[in-house]
Amino acid sequence: MSTEKQLKIGVLTSSGDAPGMNAAIRAVARTGAYHNMKVYGIMRGYEGLLSAEIEELEPREVSNIIFRGGTLLLTARCEEMKTVEGQERAANVAKVLGLDALIVAGGDGSLRGAQALSKLGVNVIGIPATIDLDMACTEYTIGFDTAINTGMEAINRIRDTSTSHERCSVVEVMGRSAGHLALWCGITGGAEEVMIPEYKELNTERVVQQIIENRSKGKRHNLIVVAEGVGGSVALAQELQSVLGIQSRATVLGHLQRGGAPTALDRMHASVMGYMAVEAVVRGERNKAGIVKDGRHALMDLDEALACTKPYDHSLYEMIKVLAI
Ligand code: F6P
Repeated sequence: MSTEKQLKIGVLTSSGDAPGMNAAIRAVARTGAYHNMKVYGIMRGYEGLLSAEIEELEPREVSNIIFRGGTLLLTARCEEMKTVEGQERAANVAKVLGLDALIVAGGDGSLRGAQALSKLGVNVIGIPATIDLDMACTEYTIGFDTAINTGMEAINRIRDTSTSHERCSVVEVMGRSAGHLALWCGITGGAEEVMIPEYKELNTERVVQQIIENRSKGKRHNLIVVAEGVGGSVALAQELQSVLGIQSRATVLGHLQRGGAPTALDRMHASVMGYMAVEAVVRGERNKAGIVKDGRHALMDLDEALACTKPYDHSLYEMIKVLAI
């Protein structure tokens, strides 16, 4: 019989759910089992950590989840984890549970919660998972590809009716204060204009001018994608209609964009990230974040990852103007 101590790890999903989180949970549970670890699933993100709401995750309990959107472990936005008292309480629960590592899949705020725990002696490994792609440390966050595909398909459908009525359609997509989702949805959906928070000077007058120009070039309908961080899509559609006299309609995709079966790309990234996180624990690594750099998966020191900044690359935005000619 082996005298080696059996490692215990916990996994939780936090912030907004992202398609692919289930594939990451599955990878953690199965890689943990492969290494003879005890794997605990922590319910409802940090809320479940605070209330010690945990379940052992055996490999068969994560069967048939790789293709499902959402998260088996549920998720929550936990206000208490933003307070020092909450962080101390959560760290204490992790210690009482005897966790050798806590794997946290979520967005920037979730990984900052993990960072706070790391300062209190908990070993944490972060997995970037958010449809917003708004984390400077990594080229990819789990859920982004599925969300773009959902947005693009919605735009395809809106395009059919917009073309038939020769209307102007304004489609608002999620993304919090980042414009990545809007930009990618706009490019892949063939939009004439994309309004993103990173490009503040793009105002209504410019969109009006663009539509007038488009009409003169023979375009009978227009598709404008607006990022959530810019907002006001209903007001914009009303203004376009009153200024231009062209029938205009707004559609806010909202949470529709966060659900659905994860694409192959999201399942792949999530599986690698989950596997990599547990392998890091096996090697005795502490306080890391999984990242994608130059197209390859890697681990980065968590503090370093959360200190990263990235200047906004305007080249894709510039390209839209050319492609919409
Ligand atoms: O972070 C993911 C995201 O879907 C953002 O795009 C959006 O701003 C936010 O979450 C919505 O959060 P909630 O579901 O809590 O309303």
